[in-house]
Amino acid sequence: MASAKINNFNLVYTDTGIGRPIVLIHGYPFNRSLWTEQVMVLSTSFRVIAPDLRGFGDSDAVPGTATMDVMAQDIVLLMNHLGIARATICGLSMGGYVALALYKQLPSHVRALVLADTRAQADTEEAKQTRAQQAEKALSEGMAGIADAMLPKLLTPETVSKRPEIVKFVRDMMLQTKPEGAAAALRGMAERENQTELLPKITAPTLIVVGSEDAITPVADSENMHHAIDSSRLVVLDHAGHVSNVERAQQFNDEVLHFLSRS
Ligand code: MLT
Repeated sequence: MASAKINNFNLVYTDTGIGRPIVLIHGYPFNRSLWTEQVMVLSTSFRVIAPDLRGFGDSDAVPGTATMDVMAQDIVLLMNHLGIARATICGLSMGGYVALALYKQLPSHVRALVLADTRAQADTEEAKQTRAQQAEKALSEGMAGIADAMLPKLLTPETVSKRPEIVKFVRDMMLQTKPEGAAAALRGMAERENQTELLPKITAPTLIVVGSEDAITPVADSENMHHAIDSSRLVVLDHAGHVSNVERAQQFNDEVLHFLSRS
C-alpha cells in the first residue's frame, strides 16, 4: 500500500507489476479492493495502479462535493506523481464517470479506455433528489442501511442466493466507506455532466463491458455508448449484474487482457 499527498489529501493506492500502465478506478461506494482479482491477473503483464478515490477505502475523506472532474484531476495528479504520462484508464460505474471526465480534460493521457457497467448520461432530476436523500442518510445513519438496500441491485439474484462469499465481500467493502466520503461522491455524481456529446469524439480504443443483468446501468446504456464511440467494442457478460468484474472475474479479465493485447 502506498500513499501520496494529492490535492491536499492523502490518497492511498496500489501500484504493482511492470509494463504498460493501467489505472483501475472503482465505483461507489467501493474501494480499490473491488479490483482484487484484476490486480492479481493484470499485474503479471502490466503495471496496475488502483487508487482509493477521495473518501473511499484508506484515502482521506474530503467533506463537501467530490465532483467527477475533481476525482479525475486526482487521478491525473497521481499519474504525474508516478511518472506516468499515458495509461489505459479503466473505470467501473462511478469510476467510468471519472474516466470519461478524465478523457474530456486530458485525452492525451489516455492510451485506451475500459468502461465497465457505466453510462454517459447525467442524472435525472429525480435521481438527483434521491442522491441528496442518500447523502443525508449516510451522514445520519452510517453505511449499513445503504449497503443493504444496494446489494440486490448490485448482484444477480443467483449470486445473492448461491455465492455468499461475494455477497459478504461486496457488503464489507461498502461498510468500510466513510459516510462523509459517500455523501461527497453522491453530491458529485448528482452534479455530473452529461457526457453523451463527448462519446463521438473519443478516438482511444475503448472496451465497454457490462453484466447482462446490470440493474443500475443496464445493457442499453452500454449499447448506446458503443454506438456512439467508433473505436469501441462491446462485451456483455452473462450471469453478471452491476459488479461484473467481481461476479465474472475470469471472463472480465480475459476480455481486458485480450483488449490490451490488441490496443
Ligand atoms: C456505482 O456503482 O458507482 C454507482 O452505483 C453509480 C451510480 O449510482 O450512478
